[in-house]
Formats: sequence, C-alpha cells, structure tokens
Amino acid sequence: MSMTGPRIAVFPGSFDPLTNGHVDIILRGARLFDRIVVAILQNAEKRPLFTPEERAETIQEVFREYPNVDVESFDGLLVDYALRRRASVIVRGLRAVSDFEFELQMALMNRRLGPEIETVFMMPAEQYTYVSSRLIKEVFALGGPIAGLVPEVVELRLREKREQNKV
Ligand code: PNS
Repeated sequence: MSMTGPRIAVFPGSFDPLTNGHVDIILRGARLFDRIVVAILQNAEKRPLFTPEERAETIQEVFREYPNVDVESFDGLLVDYALRRRASVIVRGLRAVSDFEFELQMALMNRRLGPEIETVFMMPAEQYTYVSSRLIKEVFALGGPIAGLVPEVVELRLREKREQNKV
C-alpha cells in the first residue's frame, strides 16, 4: 500500500436507491479520507428499480457540492476495481449486529483477494440504523411516507418511477 499520495476510499454498494444512511456514511468518509469514491455495482440484482446510470446521476446530484466525493460504477471483483482506482480502503456501513456476519465474511474474503486493501466499518447516525434500500422501496410502493429517510431527489425519482408504473 502506498504511504504517500492521497488516501482514497471506495464505498461500494447497490444504492438502489441511495438512502440517508448511505449519505451519512459518505459524509463521514469524505471527512476521513482525501477522496471517497461511491462505487455502484452493476448487474447486482436481476431486476433493479434504477439503472446504474440513473443511480449514478442521482448520487452525483446529492454530492454536487462535495469535491472529494466521486461517483462511478464497477463490475467484477471489488478489490480489482479498488486497486485500479488506487484506493487503499473499502468503506462499509454497519447498522446492527445482523449486518456483521456477512460483512465479516466479505471483509475477510476481500482481505484474502487484496491484502493491501483495508476494510473500514462506520456506524451511521442512530436514526438511520433501520433504513435499507429494500425497505424504502417496499414502504414507497405501498404508499407509506419515506421523507427524511432518503434525499429529496431520490423521493422525486421514486415518484417518477411510480408515474411510469414501475413501482
Ligand atoms: O449494497 P450491497 O448490496 O450490500 O453491496 C454489496 C457489494 C457491492 C459490496 C458486494 O456485492 C460486492 O463487493 N460485489 C462485487 C463482487 C465481489 O467483489 N465479490 C466478492 C466480495 S467478498
């Protein structure tokens, strides 16, 4: 791992859609690292609600005024992408104990695949510990309020999907 040069972190995920829990972690990462790259996994789910391009555009809009937050999409192994991006850190958010088991597996597998990259876990603010993209989509689809749990632009994009009868 390079000890000189900017400290770059990647924050990988599906972001279908971005939640305020993600935003919270990205802001913490932007304070901690020289650069944080929000890395959207392509082809993760067979039927995502938003295309990777739509997700990238939305996240870019939310972080337009943050010069050290980048948004990209990636395919293939996360560690290969991180190395290409010259990142030394993978950031993941931990909400509850239930997240821990899978996150530990991924962190240790990624360590085996790319020993020079360190996984760093961050806890979001308590008010987001129960928020997930899956629940946001479910609550929105059933007509429940999601204001305050996602950025306004995400709620707008969800409404557009509803108008296209996709939610
Ligand atoms: O938002 P998610 O669905 O929790 O993110 C999961 C993600 C994107 C971090 C994970 O699926 C991933 O890293 N996929 C890339 C493929 C890969 O490297 N797999 C091995 C990881 S141990």
